[in-house]
Amino acid sequence: AEVMNRVPIIWINIQDCAGNTEALLRSASPTVDELILEYLSVEYHEVIMAAAGDQAEQNLEKAVKDFDGKYLLFVEGSIPVGMPEAFTIGRHPKTGVEHVKHLSEHAAAVIAVGSCASFGGVPAAYPNPTGAVGVMDIVKGKPVVNIPACPANPANITGVVIHYILTGEIPELDSLLRPKFAFGYRIHDNCERRAHFDAGEFVEEWGDYGAKNNFCLYKMGCKGPFTFNNCSIVRYNEGTNWPIGVGRGCIGCSEPNFWDVYATERPI
Ligand code: SF4
Ligand code: F3S
Repeated sequence: AEVMNRVPIIWINIQDCAGNTEALLRSASPTVDELILEYLSVEYHEVIMAAAGDQAEQNLEKAVKDFDGKYLLFVEGSIPVGMPEAFTIGRHPKTGVEHVKHLSEHAAAVIAVGSCASFGGVPAAYPNPTGAVGVMDIVKGKPVVNIPACPANPANITGVVIHYILTGEIPELDSLLRPKFAFGYRIHDNCERRAHFDAGEFVEEWGDYGAKNNFCLYKMGCKGPFTFNNCSIVRYNEGTNWPIGVGRGCIGCSEPNFWDVYATERPI
């Protein structure tokens, strides 16, 4: 495989909130400016590019031609296969399904950023009015990497990019197409409140003695025992904090169907 200096990327947004872009803009090591100036060549990104309208469309098609087979396609957001007209883009509108398929056909690999692009995420929650799915359900014949979580941790986005730059390949993946370097860890096994779990010390009610003393959040619905992600190790915002660190349970935001299955205050 070819080793590159700066990787051309195309980043598109479908049914999303741009939260993964927001998270990437707060990347700490490397920072987003280091990323963009030294490691990536951002050819198209609706949130951060200067171009708009026809010019943006022309830039996109030029990038597809100039970097055919070489660019990484980042997809943020879910794809409405059950209601294709729910998302369209361009002067000669393409549906989200057509947009993702077209751009993935010319990509080296497709990176699904965040839980929506990975597994359908919040738009796919019951009753899933648009028939939302993740990238891997519609892209065939190309390597797909899922970087779930809500939002995806920038440490994991940059980890995939740096691995690709250094080796020319995508990192080793698990059965849900997640990089093992990031998703091989169970939250519960690396949680700072684990000693309280083992001692049977739980928060029983918000604001009680246990809550004030950082006891285990299992009885308040924490899904850390069922969730695989490295946020208990790398945290967010330059390692500042993470959900359990601020006193609420994990809602399994990186797992498939998290909104319907994990995001409750009931223990499973
Ligand atoms: Fe496990 Fe959650 Fe308790 Fe941490 S707070 S020890 S992840 S159940
Ligand atoms: Fe998400 Fe749970 Fe981590 S909610 S950010 S996987 S602690």
